[in-house]
Amino acid sequence: MCGIVGYVGNKNAQDFLISGLKRLEYRGYDSAGIVTLDTDGGATLLRAKGKISNLEEKLAENKREDKIGIGHTRWATHGEPSEANAHPHRAGAIYLVHNGIIENYKELKEHLTEHEFKSETDTEVLAALVNSFYAEGKYPLTNAVVQALKLVKGTYGIAVVSTKNPEEIVVARSGSPLVIGVGHDETLIASDASALVGHTKQAIYLNDGEVARITKNSVEIKTLNAEPVSAKVEEIETNLAAIQKGGYEHFLLKEIMEQPLSLAETLRGRVNLEQGTVRLGGPGLSEAELRKIKHLIIVGCGTAYHAGLLASYYIEQFTPEITVETVIASEYRYRNAYIPEDSVALIVSQSGETADTLACLREIKKQGTKTIGIVNAIGSTIAREVDGGTYVHVGPEISVASTKAFTSQVIAMVMFGLTIAQAKGAKPGTLRPYVEEIAKLPEMIGKTLQSVDKKVQKISKKYKNYEHAIYLGRDIAYPTAMEGALKLKEISYVDANAYAFGELKHGPLALIDDRFFELALVPEGALYDKAISNVQEVLARGGHMIVVTNTDFALEVDDVIEIPGEIKLFAPILMNLVSQLFAYYMTTAKGYNVDQPRNLAKSVTVE
Ligand code: M6R
Repeated sequence: MCGIVGYVGNKNAQDFLISGLKRLEYRGYDSAGIVTLDTDGGATLLRAKGKISNLEEKLAENKREDKIGIGHTRWATHGEPSEANAHPHRAGAIYLVHNGIIENYKELKEHLTEHEFKSETDTEVLAALVNSFYAEGKYPLTNAVVQALKLVKGTYGIAVVSTKNPEEIVVARSGSPLVIGVGHDETLIASDASALVGHTKQAIYLNDGEVARITKNSVEIKTLNAEPVSAKVEEIETNLAAIQKGGYEHFLLKEIMEQPLSLAETLRGRVNLEQGTVRLGGPGLSEAELRKIKHLIIVGCGTAYHAGLLASYYIEQFTPEITVETVIASEYRYRNAYIPEDSVALIVSQSGETADTLACLREIKKQGTKTIGIVNAIGSTIAREVDGGTYVHVGPEISVASTKAFTSQVIAMVMFGLTIAQAKGAKPGTLRPYVEEIAKLPEMIGKTLQSVDKKVQKISKKYKNYEHAIYLGRDIAYPTAMEGALKLKEISYVDANAYAFGELKHGPLALIDDRFFELALVPEGALYDKAISNVQEVLARGGHMIVVTNTDFALEVDDVIEIPGEIKLFAPILMNLVSQLFAYYMTTAKGYNVDQPRNLAKSVTVE
């Protein structure tokens, strides 16, 4: 969603702001803007609807040598995407950028009669509110920001500058991330550490309820109640290669193809093949605590939810003494659900910033339930607020469509399930097959990607003009089908939905006609014959069927994509690679923007 950058130092601020905003493009946006300040009380404000390249066109005619500035990519919430609604917003001497939503902006606006509003945004209301405390020297900038924020309801990450003091930036956060990069004679800010990579490795992650005054050589943090906070400087682990395309045409293809490595990172130091066991340090639960667990709640949105659903099928297979419920965060946060004693909640999020997932985490914590994060982004809000956690360590995932995170989330949760089963004294030998396959998966993912790539590319082109798709699967293949359908719809805009095979005759079978194609995931296993009957039901009604399988498939269907047969238990993970490639190639064949699909954002920080 929206992105924030800021710079104060000795270098050209415009250069950093533009390059920083480009790093944040992946989050999704529809307009962008920057403002820089000179030392004579002047400001250069540039804003443009659409891509950052539009902003760069304006920049070409407005090059400045200013050493301080703030910038923003906006994902519209209040008011359409337009230049007037793009940030920074100005009120008097103040310029302000904002991520999040000011819920009581209408009420606040009524009192700000002296300001002439030029946009439809809640952000301009916040700028005017800060200015109402700042104008005429009533408060220094930091205090003016604090006074304003005390009146605000909602979420924000903000950066504010004033032409009256072109040496300081004031930032604050509540529910929307902000990172301060500490350099030599320069201080940088960003809503996402990836914008800082290559500039500094030292970062301070602001906490909710904190406000910081930043100059090129200092960072002073305090709470909204004026209590001083001592800044904790942490290391940014990401390197430049991880946020570049590395020779691939799109981030999505890079991220699909790097799964052998990213999963290997997830497994590093956590699998003991000799003993047939796994070990996760992060959750921080003792053997006794693990033994006590009777219920697992898995919370996530989108792909993270699907990962949780798939993991739950596995955990139920080898830990029959516990119940596992996987829930959609945006629903669960309002369900008033009773959480029984001896429950543990797994909070799953690639970005660690998803607003609905974060809200669930806070609700669940209120009930006294232990929360464990399954998170990728290091230092993210969810990672910091959970009681314990396991980072999946897949590196930055830039493409909006989540791929490598899914694979590692599933396996990390399965490993958590295995640690519970180990502690509960699983029967000897029952867990070893899972551990052995997990250890083999990185290599098999590599082999599968290699073996199916060309074929999937060819087949996806054949189906590119279909308007509708149905993804099908039973048991462990069903959540995998859901994830495949999500991938296709979000980037290729094909109306793709997933059904459990057994549900077809309860309604969806009526849909089958020539506008639809069907993609069935049919792994070898106990329900194979039943899935075959279901495939036949679809064929008998004129379906156009692609089957993805890990066994010899005798039935005549339109297309068969075979994956290597060595992996049995986790075959759906390999089948999902086919779905990922299928969505990628169909989207490139249609000529759409693969990495930044319309209307979507990578990190959904608003409700
Ligand atoms: O960062 P998170 O894992 O919390 O994000 C959750 C969803 O927004 C995300 O998985 C979304 O569904 C992806 N675009 C799917 O590819």
